[in-house]
Amino acid sequence: MADSSLIKKYDVPGPRYTSYPTVPHWKNETFSTEKWTKSLIHTFVETNHTSGISLYIHLPYCESLCTFCACHKRITKNHTVELPYIQAVLKEWSLYLALFPEKPLISEIHLGGGTPSFFAPEMLQLLIAGILENVEVTAKHEFSFEGHPNNTTAEHLQTLYDLGFRRVSFGVQDYDPQVQKAIHRIQPFENVKKVTELARTIGYTSVSHDLVFGLPFQKISSVENTIQKTLELKPDRIAFYSYAHVPWIKGNGQRGFEDENLPSGEEKRLLYERGRAMFEQNNYAEIGMDHFALPEDNLYKAQENGSLHRNFMGYTTTQSKVLLGLGASSISDCWTAFAQNIKEIDTYIETVNAGELPVFKGHILSNEDIFIRQQILNIICQLETSWQIFDWSGQEKEILFEKLEDFEEDGLITFNEFGLKVLPKGKAFIRNICMAFDKHLNQTNSQQKLFSKTI
Ligand SMILES: C[S@@+](CC[C@H](N)C(=O)[O-])C[C@H]1O[C@@H](n2cnc3c(N)ncnc32)[C@H](O)[C@@H]1O
Ligand code: SF4
Repeated sequence: MADSSLIKKYDVPGPRYTSYPTVPHWKNETFSTEKWTKSLIHTFVETNHTSGISLYIHLPYCESLCTFCACHKRITKNHTVELPYIQAVLKEWSLYLALFPEKPLISEIHLGGGTPSFFAPEMLQLLIAGILENVEVTAKHEFSFEGHPNNTTAEHLQTLYDLGFRRVSFGVQDYDPQVQKAIHRIQPFENVKKVTELARTIGYTSVSHDLVFGLPFQKISSVENTIQKTLELKPDRIAFYSYAHVPWIKGNGQRGFEDENLPSGEEKRLLYERGRAMFEQNNYAEIGMDHFALPEDNLYKAQENGSLHRNFMGYTTTQSKVLLGLGASSISDCWTAFAQNIKEIDTYIETVNAGELPVFKGHILSNEDIFIRQQILNIICQLETSWQIFDWSGQEKEILFEKLEDFEEDGLITFNEFGLKVLPKGKAFIRNICMAFDKHLNQTNSQQKLFSKTI
């Protein structure tokens, strides 16, 4: 089948699989905070000494709204919000510390948002110093943060460097003036150049740039220009995200442009293909889905040695089975259970200050969920998976294998009774291949307004 027909066939709404089951399919009815903490402690005890735990800390404020953004954030110029928020996150951490039977071993900290660099350096110092009190850290710990090129300062970079941060990702998105205007994010190349060079001078060993394809008014020529500029700065990693158009999500503020300003599925795919070719010509390797890295970067090495992992933070090189999400809206994962924090910031703060874990929903994974989760993780990280026993009813297996046959006919995979391999042509359709295994999706068929399109 020609590539354009494949794109038409497979450009349907679908998850990005930072978790399985995906959040809209969690069974909240059978979840409770008690069950969550029980599962968490169980995995913690099993893995703390070996792989340690990862922390994701959500810092939800931004000074100005970018109208393409799907992250959970609150827009304000009032910086008095910083201290009470940091204190609440530290209080939440103390609630978890009280649950753990021993000192946690921290392998990873990621500050995401919103905009971590919205916070003053001394606030970030207070936060990280408070988190690191009474814990151990692994020898190969990875501390990273998301910085906005317009407000990340030398003090931010130095403060976090002194606390052990060696990785930073900057949101670049696109350099084209028409695109920047439509997404309400005016961000000159000079700002990105300045923070990238500053980070390197201070000693950061991995600088990443986030670009997005599929934004309003993007054309091949404008994306080529954005990538050319990006290559001049030679980031160690590049995230080349597919624009997730989810305007129905309440309060996320995706507006300021019309649907007809967006590239079509096929145009979007061409933008990606062009980007990929340019990155590959410049020595970057494609990592899983949407990511590129230079051969010296750990993400590339992890893909090569089969240790690449994916969780709510995206692709990662650490193998922790416990990812604790702190802060409003953060999601935690202990492999056998997920839990999400209250999204509304004031309610989040009130709840932790009252001494309660701010969890408001979650999912306890069944054995079948865990089996499928592992298959999807293998496909999305290693581009192949295998199974010994397929413990599904005959009919379910038949339905799955019918879908796999269809992928095989389209040249996307090869498969047999015990596993599958994604072929080069199938890389563009990884999300679709994972969807074939997603039992919750197949049961509800309600993905229409839950997920962005797969292409
Ligand atoms: C929380 S933001 C980054 C930190 C900082 N606030 C900034 O904007 O520079 C993380 C990244 O998510 C990506 N992102 C946000 N909304 C997106 C969307 N709708 N589709 C695809 N990627 C998106 C952007 O590339 C963005 O840089
Ligand atoms: S892209 Fe970054 S700065 Fe813009 S609204 Fe989203 S989180 Fe805030």
